[in-house]
Amino acid sequence: MKLWVVLSLALLWVEFHSGACQQLKRKKDVTRPAGKRVNIRGPKVKDGGGKRQSPLIRVLEKGRFLHLGPSTVLSPGMDLELRCKGSNIGWSYPTYLDTYNDSRLSIRQSDKFSQLILTSPSAADTGSYSCWVIVCDGTECTKDHERLYASYVYFTDKGNLFVPSAIHFEIVYLRPDRPAVVPCRVTDPQAEVSLHREVPPEELTANTTLLTYDPTKGFVLQKPSPDHQGVFYCKAATKGTPQISTKYQLLYVEVPNGPPFVSLEASSTSVRGGDNVNVTCTVLGEPEVDVNFTWSYPGQNYRPVHIQTSWRLVNRGTGHTTRVSQSVLTVEDMETIDFGNYICKAKNLNGQTIVAVTVISK
Ligand SMILES: *[C@@H]1O[C@H](CO)[C@@H](O)[C@H](O)[C@H]1NC(C)=O
Ligand SMILES: *[C@@H]1O[C@H](CO)[C@@H](O)[C@H](O)[C@H]1NC(C)=O
Ligand SMILES: *[C@@H]1O[C@H](CO)[C@@H](O)[C@H](O)[C@H]1NC(C)=O
Ligand SMILES: *[C@@H]1O[C@H](CO)[C@@H](O)[C@H](O)[C@H]1NC(C)=O
Repeated sequence: MKLWVVLSLALLWVEFHSGACQQLKRKKDVTRPAGKRVNIRGPKVKDGGGKRQSPLIRVLEKGRFLHLGPSTVLSPGMDLELRCKGSNIGWSYPTYLDTYNDSRLSIRQSDKFSQLILTSPSAADTGSYSCWVIVCDGTECTKDHERLYASYVYFTDKGNLFVPSAIHFEIVYLRPDRPAVVPCRVTDPQAEVSLHREVPPEELTANTTLLTYDPTKGFVLQKPSPDHQGVFYCKAATKGTPQISTKYQLLYVEVPNGPPFVSLEASSTSVRGGDNVNVTCTVLGEPEVDVNFTWSYPGQNYRPVHIQTSWRLVNRGTGHTTRVSQSVLTVEDMETIDFGNYICKAKNLNGQTIVAVTVISK
């Protein structure tokens, strides 16, 4: 039952992220691949290699400006006004402001500069804010990557050392061929953060090789392995009481060229006669890998069941797509003969995985 909830949350999370990604894509539509870029203005004039002040500025009180460095620490609550010089400027900001179509955010372009205003910022608005010059050649416009200026803004809030998240239980997929990120970002770059496994309780300490901590990303596991699976949380402290992040389920997914990674869950494992039961067999894998399901169940050959198999592609929002293949076996009106082991056999070209779940009488 629990894993089923976790899986639903995982899919929710995945949908949420693919949504955010599409929004980003829409914004980036004006950008052509860098290789095709036409440099209309010719080479950029360098100012002798001295310390260049970023054209990304924060507006303080009347007439006062502050050039923003790579990171900025601010207090929540005070409106944020950023400006970027130029008559055609693009912006990016934490995607969650777009996902929720937040009316606190407004962007205005005037003749000489563009202005981004975020009213009543909170810890959740912590993230990277950047602006760039848009270069147009006729109707085609491109983002000038050499004139892109970014600052990571922390809205430090003692009550929210972790950047609040809309989801309280996140799935982190571990793959053998790429680093995995446990995204417990903090609102105070000075916070001391540690990573903890729930069961058995264990603290994983960051070191410069396999496990690193970046306040703008979270914990980065350089070489994920199945040993890293489990439920984790982060703990952060500055001076006061430590705070705990949301929980993260680390799942070791797709083993390239291996048999399927399968999870099997019954809608309920303890039911009464007459109830209906769904047993769901799920495989997460590479988009091109076809999976075949076979079932064995107590009432086989005696009782009619309904089996529905489907698959779909889910964009995980990190430039990676997962194929979710699923087979749902439904038993209606449970009888004595139906109690027992439900076995799902999932097969791909590289092998098969067999998993079972027991449904007992209540
Ligand atoms: C976002 O909000 C504005 C004004 O509140 C509305 O006009 C617009 O349609 C909304 N967009 C989306 C995608 O919900
Ligand atoms: C770094 O941390 C990881 C995870 O705790 C551990 O497995 C690894 O042995 C550590 N490496 C070094 C060089 O300390
Ligand atoms: C089984 O799945 C079907 C289709 O998703 C759903 O309508 C039904 O309520 C589920 N039954 C149980 C007992 O969870
Ligand atoms: C899955 O089943 C189909 C048709 O039953 C078959 O053509 C295909 O080769 C099978 N794939 C695997 C990986 O067993």
